[in-house]
Amino acid sequence: MSTGEVQGAPFEVRQLSKEELVDALTDAREHTRDLLDRLDANNLVTQHSALMSPLVWDLAHIGWYEENWLLRELGASTPDREGFDEIYDAFSNPRSDRPNLPLLEPEAAWRYCDDVRSRALEHLESLDLDSGQALLAGGFVYGLVAQHELQHNETMLQTLQLRTTPYPLDDREPAGHATGPATRDRLPEATFEGGEVDVGSTHHWAYDNERPATTVRLAAYAIDSAPVTNTAYQAFIAEGGYQTESLWTPEGWSYIRSEAISAPLAWESDAEAGWTRGRLGNVEPIPEHEPVQHVSWYEADAYARWVGKRLPTEAEWEAAACWHPRERRATTYPWGDVFEPDRANVGRRRFGPSPVGAFTRGESALGCQQMTGDVWEWTSSDFLAYPDFEAFPYREYSEAFFGAEYKVLRGGSWATSPAVARASFRNWDYPSRRQLFVGFRCARDL
Ligand code: AVJ
Ligand code: FE
Repeated sequence: MSTGEVQGAPFEVRQLSKEELVDALTDAREHTRDLLDRLDANNLVTQHSALMSPLVWDLAHIGWYEENWLLRELGASTPDREGFDEIYDAFSNPRSDRPNLPLLEPEAAWRYCDDVRSRALEHLESLDLDSGQALLAGGFVYGLVAQHELQHNETMLQTLQLRTTPYPLDDREPAGHATGPATRDRLPEATFEGGEVDVGSTHHWAYDNERPATTVRLAAYAIDSAPVTNTAYQAFIAEGGYQTESLWTPEGWSYIRSEAISAPLAWESDAEAGWTRGRLGNVEPIPEHEPVQHVSWYEADAYARWVGKRLPTEAEWEAAACWHPRERRATTYPWGDVFEPDRANVGRRRFGPSPVGAFTRGESALGCQQMTGDVWEWTSSDFLAYPDFEAFPYREYSEAFFGAEYKVLRGGSWATSPAVARASFRNWDYPSRRQLFVGFRCARDL
């Protein structure tokens, strides 16, 4: 992979030709290799945390998913193997049980992935994408598989964040850094006077949970123009945020008590060294002006209450990211419909967020910065279906997860491919999760 290349780069909003679909799949695979080649076999087979799978499970699961969608569902011949559905279908077994399964060894997992891939590409040559089959229309299912692999790249990085062993970092600064780091801890708020906005997507590659695009009415609100920084978050810690019960929801309070949490994941404080953080196991001083990451929803919610604000709803977040009030339309990214690498820190060019203010060129019409990339952002919203939702192409992607158990995260992180960093993209997780590359910004009613 050459310096400065962006993960998922050939993958755009429009429909792609067969050649471009092959490029998108190839690009995703190169990024998987780049990620895993820096680890030895032992690191791939060990389960680093009960919250996550052994990395070699993710790898073979990437191949299994591709086999299912690009071979089986499309009527192509499959590799000889038995029992893989029971092992590599995420719904067959919980993450904590996965090390006990008869998993493929790393070399065999790579061979399986490569075998599936060469069959898939061969089969693609013989297909007519305009046959009327919904899976094939505009190459949809190829985009689904590429996005899946890219999402698992980020999942594997979360696994690595839960280790204390240093993962070799390869920080290639995103071009936007050239605009200079901001020294301001608190950027001003952006405001929306209220009114109707469109959320959701008609984007060709959008997942079912982003559809159908819907009009919602928002009351007037203010939203931070940048994510909460490490310095701002340190003040919350120093001023007793973790000791003040009234700032927390009952679930949040019992969570931080039972888990003995008093700082973001992998933060340590030492009388001499002060605060440090673990970045994929690499211990370093905490950069003042970077967005805070590795906080649970509970912590984000308590911080917001501490500053007299609240988390934005996902509709408020989406309008702040990509609604253009004058044209009355939403764009795919804050600046427009085509991804531009110098406007956001995504695609794993740097293994962490960029300082607040680094991407003035990524500013949205409403005046918010760093909505795309750097850190996912917690919203106050539960993960629910939009009105008239229809599962496609399978219930287990989104529908099986709808409900109040999960909170929605938006915007993508430094580890997210631009192929899945659409402003309409909805991520979700438990409010207790902290290994995600997630921070937040606050909002308030006007
Ligand atoms: C959208 C990140 C919550 O990892 O559970 C991967 C993506 N779906 N394989 C997840 C996904 C199937 C999903 N998230
Ligand atoms: Fe998966």
